[in-house]
Amino acid sequence: MIYEGQELPKHALVMVGLPARGKTYIARKIARYLSWLGYDTRTFNVGEYRRSQVGARQPASFFDPDDESTSGVREAIARRALDDMVGWLIGGGEVAIYDATNTEKSRRDAIWQRCHAVGIQVVFVESICEDERVVERNVRDNKLRSPDYADVAPEEAVRDFRQRIAFYERNYEPVDEPDRSYVKIIDEGRQVVVNRMAGYFSARLMFFLMNIHPARRKIWLTRHGESVFNTEERIGGDSDLSARGLSYARSLADHMLKQPKTDQLVVWTSTLKRAVQTATHLGIRPVARRALDEIDAGICDGMTYEEIKRDLPEEFSARRGDKFRYRYPRGESYADVIQRLEPIIVDLERQRHPILVVAHQAIIRALYGYLTGRPQEECPHVPIPLHTIVELTPTAYGYEEHRVELEPSLPDRSDAPLSMGPWPQG
Ligand code: F6P
Repeated sequence: MIYEGQELPKHALVMVGLPARGKTYIARKIARYLSWLGYDTRTFNVGEYRRSQVGARQPASFFDPDDESTSGVREAIARRALDDMVGWLIGGGEVAIYDATNTEKSRRDAIWQRCHAVGIQVVFVESICEDERVVERNVRDNKLRSPDYADVAPEEAVRDFRQRIAFYERNYEPVDEPDRSYVKIIDEGRQVVVNRMAGYFSARLMFFLMNIHPARRKIWLTRHGESVFNTEERIGGDSDLSARGLSYARSLADHMLKQPKTDQLVVWTSTLKRAVQTATHLGIRPVARRALDEIDAGICDGMTYEEIKRDLPEEFSARRGDKFRYRYPRGESYADVIQRLEPIIVDLERQRHPILVVAHQAIIRALYGYLTGRPQEECPHVPIPLHTIVELTPTAYGYEEHRVELEPSLPDRSDAPLSMGPWPQG
């Protein structure tokens, strides 16, 4: 990725922390966020290397730092993952995440030296958590489901995992290297300590890390109800809802108000009439956000796909050739939409209440792409029909998806055959 006219320096984000401190959760979130923003990002999880090289079922004693036979094996596994990571970055990757405990300073020094020698910038991302209840929750929610404990009775697995943590605690040296770049996330974001984080990429990462938290809340995504422009197959504009769209607004409210914790529901809409009108029956004052407005179709705004094909055939086929990067003259591309949605994503991460987003086809595709970890270029093709709610329920590391079709699924005229066929459409 090019930024400010220069190529992004290669980065290694090196996780640090005792087991069950949410490192993998944070690592996956960073990976999803950076990939969605267009950085070529890859995670190197040393636990996965261990499982593939020596098998998942290793007792806690395998992690005993005083057992020379096993610490040598663990060192070799970590080195292998590091070699792969450095090789991948040298070979063209942009941001690598090295997901391991890295609790000893000597290990961190070795990683730093190795990366520094080939021009890779290292940022340590440490997760510290002293709250026993949080550690217990992490062990029970995540670790017991790990392949390390498949078929092991829960209480035995907890006992073994606690022993593993105790082994790591023996030699744990929290990051305190004044010359290194690091971010320490303390007690799930209650406090964030930052050292030597300069430049655009680091600031972006820091901003994101300061807003994420592991509290689980549902997210609902929906397009507005059918609009007058939808019935005429016109794109963009700012028309009112059609009769069918108004009916969806009522069904949406009925459905949402049956959900748990609706007294806490946060509702965001775009500033366009069709989205605001869709949220009117919820009885909750929505927050209208301009960043959620539909993709700007520039000179094509208000036209039908048929008219674009007839009057602007070059534009039509350029978009067909690369729907993700194609920018409407005086308008936007999907790539532009993603950049403008970045603050919305950070705000979405920050929210601890259930949230409903009422927006538009391209916008919901981009948000959905982020939340479900789809590659950027797939976004413009994700099917997001009208009158359907996408319900996302958080799981240990992602979301489980459930779609609810509320109004009879009459053909969505804006997704007409033209847009399904020659005009690429999910
Ligand atoms: O047709 C409805 C609509 O929301 C238009 O306003 C918008 O231009 C279009 O969908 C985005 O979908 P696509 O990128 O598939 O053209």
